[in-house]
Amino acid sequence: MKVGVVGTGLVGATAAYALTLRGSCSDLVLVDKDPQRAQAEAQDIAHAAPVSSGTRVGSGGDAALADCRVVVVAAGANQQPGESRLDLLDKNAAIFREVIPRVAEQAPQAVLLIATNPVDVLTDLATRLAPDHAVLGSGTVLDSARFRHLIAERAGVDATHVHGYVLGEHGDSEVLAWSTATVAGLPVADFMRARKLDWSEAVRAGIDAGTRDAAAAIIQGKRATYYGIGAALARITEAILGDRRAVLTVSAPTPHYGVSLSLPRIVGARGVEDTLLPTLTAEEQAALNASAEVLRETGRQLA
Ligand code: LAC
Repeated sequence: MKVGVVGTGLVGATAAYALTLRGSCSDLVLVDKDPQRAQAEAQDIAHAAPVSSGTRVGSGGDAALADCRVVVVAAGANQQPGESRLDLLDKNAAIFREVIPRVAEQAPQAVLLIATNPVDVLTDLATRLAPDHAVLGSGTVLDSARFRHLIAERAGVDATHVHGYVLGEHGDSEVLAWSTATVAGLPVADFMRARKLDWSEAVRAGIDAGTRDAAAAIIQGKRATYYGIGAALARITEAILGDRRAVLTVSAPTPHYGVSLSLPRIVGARGVEDTLLPTLTAEEQAALNASAEVLRETGRQLA
C-alpha cells in the first residue's frame, strides 16, 4: 500500500524514515514545496530500504499522491523556543488552505493524517477543507507515549506494558488522565507501593512536568522534536493500513465537545472507527472541558 508524506521538513522526513524502517507500507512518496528537498530526503531514505524493509521510496509533485491510502500532512512551521503550538495557527492555517484541497484532489481515497501544529485546530480545518475524506490528527499520541515512558522509567518496566492517556489539546491545556494509567494492569500507585518503589506527590508531579514540558526542553536543546512524533505517525499509519483497530489518543472532530481533540479512539482502515469516552475523575473531566474550550476559542479565531 502507498503512503504520501506532504511536507518533508524534520517531522515529515523522520516520519517517512520511521515508516521505511518499520516496513509500514510498500510505497512511500514525499512531496514538498521545495521539490529538491523532497527528492533529496527520498533518496537518502531509499538508501535505508535495502538494509531494512525494501520499501520503495520516491518523491514528486501533488500528482504523485494518486492511489495513496494515507497521506501524512506535516507541512508548515514548527515551534521555536518560547513559542506555543497555538502561536503557529495563522501561518499554518494559511498553508493548509492552499495544500489540503490539492492533496484531497490528488488522493481521493486517502485518510488524511494531520501532524502540523496546532494539530487539533488544523485537524478541524482540514476536515472542513476536505469534507469527503477521513481526517484525523496525531493529537496526544506522542504525549501519551511520553507519559507512559516516564511512568515506565519510575516503575522499572518495559514501557509497552505501561498504559495511560493524555487527553484534550496537544498543547498546554492537555490532561494527564492518571486515573487511566496502569503498570502491568495495576493502577500506578498500587504497582509502585506493592513493589515498595518511591511513589510520592513529588514523583507524580515530576512525571506531570516531564510530560508537559518535554517538547519545550527538546526544542531548547536541538531546535525541534521529530523522532517521537515520527514514530507516532508511523504507528497511527500502520493502524490504518492494517485495519488494526488500535486504541490511540488521536485527534478528531468530537461532537460531544464541538471540536477536534484527543480521546482514546479505535483506529482502523477508515481512520477513526470509534471513540471511547473514558471514565475520569471530576477533576480530570473539568480539565478536559477546559481544554475543549481552549480549542473552541482558538478555532473561532479561524472562522
Ligand atoms: C511535540 C510536537 C510534535 O510535542 O508538538 O514534540
